[in-house]
Amino acid sequence: MTQTLNLTINGTARAIALDDPRATLLDVLRERIGLTGTKKGCDRGQCGACTVLIDGRRMNACLALALSHDGASITTVEG
Ligand code: FES
Repeated sequence: MTQTLNLTINGTARAIALDDPRATLLDVLRERIGLTGTKKGCDRGQCGACTVLIDGRRMNACLALALSHDGASITTVEG
């Protein structure tokens, strides 16, 4: 089942169709949006290479389920 994820990414509002509800925010940013400045290092929350700001708070995008942040404002290193 496809679900729509609404995010404001670096100031731009986006609606993203997600087939996999388990997709991480990191994979959405890199593979769907093409913002590859957010790196995938350990993919388990230890290295910090995937750090983004979610509503102004620092988080590891590899540990964040994308759908759980529907409506959030995301700032990546590009922003
Ligand atoms: S990829 Fe290492 S903390 Fe997310």
